[in-house]
Amino acid sequence: MSDKVSKIEKQVIVMALLTSAIHLGLIAFAAIRLGIGVPGCVTNVRPFTSGSLTKIGPKRYEVHVLAKMWSFEPSRLRLPAGSVVDFFVTSKDVTHGFHIEKTNVNLNAIPNVVGYAQARFNNTGSYSIICHEYCGSGHQAMTGFIDVKDDLTDAEADGLSTPEAAEASNSPGKNLLAAKGCIACHSFDGTKMIGPTFKGLLGREEEMEDGSKATVDEAYIREMILEPNKRHLKGFNPVMPKLPVSEQEISDIVDFIKTLR
Ligand code: CUA
Repeated sequence: MSDKVSKIEKQVIVMALLTSAIHLGLIAFAAIRLGIGVPGCVTNVRPFTSGSLTKIGPKRYEVHVLAKMWSFEPSRLRLPAGSVVDFFVTSKDVTHGFHIEKTNVNLNAIPNVVGYAQARFNNTGSYSIICHEYCGSGHQAMTGFIDVKDDLTDAEADGLSTPEAAEASNSPGKNLLAAKGCIACHSFDGTKMIGPTFKGLLGREEEMEDGSKATVDEAYIREMILEPNKRHLKGFNPVMPKLPVSEQEISDIVDFIKTLR
Protein backbone atom coordinates (compact mmCIF):
# COMPACT_ATOMS: atom_id res chain seq x y z
CA MET A 1 0.00 0.00 0.00
CA SER A 2 2.63 2.48 1.10
CA ASP A 3 4.65 1.47 -1.96
CA LYS A 4 1.80 2.54 -4.26
CA VAL A 5 1.41 5.94 -2.58
CA SER A 6 5.09 6.73 -2.89
CA LYS A 7 4.91 5.78 -6.59
CA ILE A 8 2.11 8.32 -7.18
CA GLU A 9 4.06 10.92 -5.21
CA LYS A 10 7.07 10.32 -7.40
CA GLN A 11 4.94 10.83 -10.51
CA VAL A 12 3.56 14.12 -9.12
CA ILE A 13 7.06 15.36 -8.34
CA VAL A 14 8.29 14.45 -11.82
CA MET A 15 5.29 16.20 -13.43
CA ALA A 16 5.80 19.34 -11.31
CA LEU A 17 9.48 19.52 -12.22
CA LEU A 18 8.67 18.91 -15.89
CA THR A 19 6.03 21.69 -15.94
CA SER A 20 8.46 24.13 -14.29
CA ALA A 21 11.18 23.20 -16.78
CA ILE A 22 8.82 23.70 -19.76
CA HIS A 23 7.67 27.04 -18.27
CA LEU A 24 11.24 28.37 -17.83
CA GLY A 25 12.16 26.98 -21.24
CA LEU A 26 9.32 28.89 -22.89
CA ILE A 27 10.37 32.16 -21.15
CA ALA A 28 13.96 31.63 -22.30
CA PHE A 29 12.74 30.81 -25.83
CA ALA A 30 10.57 33.98 -25.92
CA ALA A 31 13.38 36.17 -24.63
CA ILE A 32 16.28 34.75 -26.67
CA ARG A 33 14.77 33.41 -29.92
CA LEU A 34 11.70 35.66 -30.31
CA GLY A 35 13.28 38.77 -28.75
CA ILE A 36 10.25 39.47 -26.53
CA GLY A 37 11.18 41.70 -23.56
CA VAL A 38 10.75 40.07 -20.19
CA PRO A 39 9.02 42.58 -17.85
CA GLY A 40 11.37 44.32 -15.42
CA CYS A 41 11.05 47.05 -12.78
CA VAL A 42 9.52 50.37 -13.78
CA THR A 43 12.61 52.10 -12.36
CA ASN A 44 14.77 50.35 -14.99
CA VAL A 45 12.82 52.06 -17.76
CA ARG A 46 12.87 55.70 -18.80
CA PRO A 47 11.62 58.15 -17.62
CA PHE A 48 11.78 56.51 -14.18
CA THR A 49 15.51 55.71 -14.18
CA SER A 50 15.94 59.10 -12.49
CA GLY A 51 13.71 61.98 -11.45
CA SER A 52 13.11 64.73 -14.00
CA LEU A 53 11.18 67.87 -14.86
CA THR A 54 9.99 68.24 -18.46
CA LYS A 55 8.41 71.31 -19.97
CA ILE A 56 5.39 70.35 -22.10
CA GLY A 57 3.98 73.85 -22.82
CA PRO A 58 3.87 77.41 -21.47
CA LYS A 59 3.71 77.02 -17.67
CA ARG A 60 2.93 73.32 -18.16
CA TYR A 61 5.26 70.70 -16.74
CA GLU A 62 5.56 66.98 -16.20
CA VAL A 63 7.57 65.85 -13.20
CA HIS A 64 8.66 62.24 -12.88
CA VAL A 65 9.39 61.63 -9.21
CA LEU A 66 11.56 58.79 -8.00
CA ALA A 67 11.15 58.21 -4.27
CA LYS A 68 13.88 56.20 -2.55
CA MET A 69 15.37 55.74 0.91
CA TRP A 70 15.49 58.63 1.92
CA SER A 71 15.06 61.33 -0.64
CA PHE A 72 13.02 62.42 -3.61
CA GLU A 73 14.43 62.85 -7.09
CA PRO A 74 14.07 65.71 -7.92
CA SER A 75 14.12 67.11 -4.39
CA ARG A 76 13.85 70.77 -5.33
CA LEU A 77 11.67 72.28 -8.04
CA ARG A 78 11.65 75.90 -9.16
CA LEU A 79 8.55 76.96 -11.04
CA PRO A 80 7.02 80.19 -12.34
CA ALA A 81 3.80 81.22 -10.55
CA GLY A 82 0.72 79.85 -12.32
CA SER A 83 2.42 76.62 -13.38
CA VAL A 84 0.34 73.49 -13.82
CA VAL A 85 2.28 70.33 -13.07
CA ASP A 86 1.50 66.66 -13.73
CA PHE A 87 3.26 64.50 -11.15
CA PHE A 88 4.06 60.86 -11.91
CA VAL A 89 5.39 59.19 -8.78
CA THR A 90 7.00 55.81 -8.18
CA SER A 91 9.43 54.23 -5.72
CA LYS A 92 12.77 52.52 -6.18
CA ASP A 93 12.59 50.49 -2.95
CA VAL A 94 9.83 50.53 -0.32
CA THR A 95 6.49 52.34 -0.07
CA HIS A 96 6.92 56.08 0.53
CA GLY A 97 4.52 58.98 0.82
CA PHE A 98 4.39 62.00 -1.47
CA HIS A 99 2.50 64.95 -0.06
CA ILE A 100 2.91 68.54 -1.23
CA GLU A 101 1.76 70.95 1.46
CA LYS A 102 -0.86 73.58 0.56
CA THR A 103 -2.02 71.39 -2.36
CA ASN A 104 -4.25 68.32 -2.65
CA VAL A 105 -1.35 66.20 -3.92
CA ASN A 106 -1.22 63.24 -1.55
CA LEU A 107 0.05 59.99 -3.04
CA ASN A 108 1.83 56.85 -2.02
CA ALA A 109 5.00 56.06 -3.94
CA ILE A 110 4.81 52.30 -4.46
CA PRO A 111 7.42 50.13 -6.23
CA ASN A 112 6.30 49.25 -9.77
CA VAL A 113 3.20 51.43 -9.50
CA VAL A 114 2.97 54.91 -10.99
CA GLY A 115 0.86 57.36 -9.00
CA TYR A 116 -0.55 60.45 -10.71
CA ALA A 117 -1.72 63.84 -9.47
CA GLN A 118 -1.96 67.33 -10.93
CA ALA A 119 -1.38 70.61 -9.11
CA ARG A 120 -1.58 74.29 -10.02
CA PHE A 121 0.84 76.62 -8.24
CA ASN A 122 -0.80 80.04 -8.32
CA ASN A 123 0.69 81.41 -5.11
CA THR A 124 4.35 82.28 -4.85
CA GLY A 125 6.32 80.82 -1.98
CA SER A 126 7.84 77.60 -0.73
CA TYR A 127 5.90 74.33 -0.71
CA SER A 128 7.32 71.41 1.28
CA ILE A 129 7.22 67.88 -0.11
CA ILE A 130 6.88 65.36 2.71
CA CYS A 131 7.10 61.56 2.89
CA HIS A 132 4.19 60.64 5.14
CA GLU A 133 4.66 56.87 5.08
CA TYR A 134 7.12 55.42 7.60
CA CYS A 135 9.98 54.05 5.47
CA GLY A 136 12.89 53.38 7.81
CA SER A 137 15.43 55.23 9.92
CA GLY A 138 15.79 58.19 7.53
CA HIS A 139 12.02 58.71 7.14
CA GLN A 140 11.73 61.99 9.02
CA ALA A 141 14.49 63.52 6.87
CA MET A 142 12.79 62.55 3.59
CA THR A 143 11.60 65.86 2.22
CA GLY A 144 11.91 68.19 -0.71
CA PHE A 145 10.52 71.55 -1.67
CA ILE A 146 9.04 73.55 -4.48
CA ASP A 147 9.89 77.22 -4.92
CA VAL A 148 7.24 79.16 -6.84
CA LYS A 149 8.34 82.59 -8.06
CA ASP A 150 6.74 85.44 -9.98
CA ASP A 151 9.87 86.56 -11.78
CA LEU A 152 10.87 83.12 -13.06
CA THR A 153 10.56 82.31 -16.77
CA ASP A 154 9.69 78.90 -18.17
CA ALA A 155 13.30 78.54 -19.31
CA GLU A 156 14.58 79.05 -15.75
CA ALA A 157 12.34 76.38 -14.22
CA ASP A 158 14.22 73.32 -13.06
CA GLY A 159 14.12 70.22 -10.95
CA LEU A 160 17.28 69.20 -9.13
CA SER A 161 18.19 66.38 -6.80
CA THR A 162 19.63 67.03 -3.34
CA PRO A 163 23.41 67.48 -3.75
CA GLU A 164 23.17 69.39 -7.04
CA ALA A 165 20.30 71.49 -5.62
CA ALA A 166 22.39 72.66 -2.65
CA GLU A 167 25.25 73.47 -5.02
CA ALA A 168 23.16 75.34 -7.60
CA SER A 169 21.27 77.36 -5.02
CA ASN A 170 22.11 80.90 -4.01
CA SER A 171 20.92 79.80 -0.58
CA PRO A 172 22.65 76.51 0.33
CA GLY A 173 21.33 76.85 3.90
CA LYS A 174 17.72 76.78 2.74
CA ASN A 175 18.37 73.70 0.61
CA LEU A 176 20.06 71.97 3.53
CA LEU A 177 17.06 72.64 5.77
CA ALA A 178 14.93 70.90 3.14
CA ALA A 179 17.41 68.10 2.43
CA LYS A 180 17.92 67.29 6.12
CA GLY A 181 14.19 67.26 6.74
CA CYS A 182 14.15 70.26 9.14
CA ILE A 183 11.25 71.87 7.30
CA ALA A 184 8.96 69.00 8.25
CA CYS A 185 8.86 70.47 11.79
CA HIS A 186 10.05 74.10 11.46
CA SER A 187 8.38 76.80 9.36
CA PHE A 188 9.98 79.78 7.60
CA ASP A 189 6.94 82.04 8.01
CA GLY A 190 6.18 82.10 11.75
CA THR A 191 3.74 79.17 11.77
CA LYS A 192 4.09 77.05 14.91
CA MET A 193 4.70 73.43 13.93
CA ILE A 194 6.23 70.54 15.89
CA GLY A 195 9.30 72.72 16.46
CA PRO A 196 9.74 76.51 16.75
CA THR A 197 9.63 78.62 13.56
CA PHE A 198 12.88 79.80 11.98
CA LYS A 199 11.36 83.23 11.36
CA GLY A 200 13.06 85.81 13.57
CA LEU A 201 14.94 83.04 15.37
CA LEU A 202 18.28 84.88 15.63
CA GLY A 203 18.22 87.27 18.55
CA ARG A 204 14.96 85.85 19.90
CA GLU A 205 14.75 85.13 23.62
CA GLU A 206 13.65 81.53 24.19
CA GLU A 207 12.36 80.13 27.47
CA MET A 208 13.43 76.68 28.62
CA GLU A 209 11.25 74.15 30.44
CA ASP A 210 13.21 74.83 33.68
CA GLY A 211 12.38 78.55 33.47
CA SER A 212 15.82 79.70 32.31
CA LYS A 213 16.12 82.01 29.29
CA ALA A 214 18.46 81.97 26.32
CA THR A 215 19.06 84.49 23.55
CA VAL A 216 19.42 82.72 20.22
CA ASP A 217 22.81 83.21 18.59
CA GLU A 218 25.00 81.08 16.33
CA ALA A 219 26.28 79.02 19.30
CA TYR A 220 22.71 78.29 20.42
CA ILE A 221 21.74 77.05 16.94
CA ARG A 222 24.89 74.92 16.75
CA GLU A 223 24.06 73.35 20.11
CA MET A 224 20.43 72.70 19.16
CA ILE A 225 21.54 70.93 15.97
CA LEU A 226 24.38 68.90 17.44
CA GLU A 227 22.90 68.17 20.87
CA PRO A 228 19.20 68.75 20.41
CA ASN A 229 18.09 67.35 23.74
CA LYS A 230 20.64 68.97 26.02
CA ARG A 231 18.22 71.82 26.75
CA HIS A 232 14.46 71.49 26.61
CA LEU A 233 12.53 74.34 25.04
CA LYS A 234 9.33 75.30 26.85
CA GLY A 235 6.13 74.42 25.00
CA PHE A 236 7.70 71.88 22.65
CA ASN A 237 8.18 68.13 22.89
CA PRO A 238 11.85 67.07 22.96
CA VAL A 239 11.65 65.17 19.65
CA MET A 240 14.40 66.87 17.65
CA PRO A 241 16.51 64.12 16.08
CA LYS A 242 20.31 64.19 15.97
CA LEU A 243 21.37 64.56 12.34
CA PRO A 244 24.85 64.47 10.83
CA VAL A 245 25.67 68.10 9.96
CA SER A 246 29.12 69.50 9.19
CA GLU A 247 30.49 72.83 10.50
CA GLN A 248 30.19 74.29 6.97
CA GLU A 249 26.56 73.17 6.78
CA ILE A 250 25.80 74.74 10.17
CA SER A 251 27.20 78.09 9.07
CA ASP A 252 25.20 77.87 5.79
CA ILE A 253 22.05 77.18 7.81
CA VAL A 254 22.76 80.07 10.22
CA ASP A 255 23.39 82.40 7.27
CA PHE A 256 20.00 81.51 5.83
CA ILE A 257 18.14 81.79 9.16
CA LYS A 258 19.65 85.29 9.57
CA THR A 259 17.67 86.35 6.47
CA LEU A 260 14.33 85.27 8.01
CA ARG A 261 13.49 88.43 9.87
CU1 CUA B 1 10.01 57.76 2.65
CU2 CUA B 1 9.00 57.98 4.79
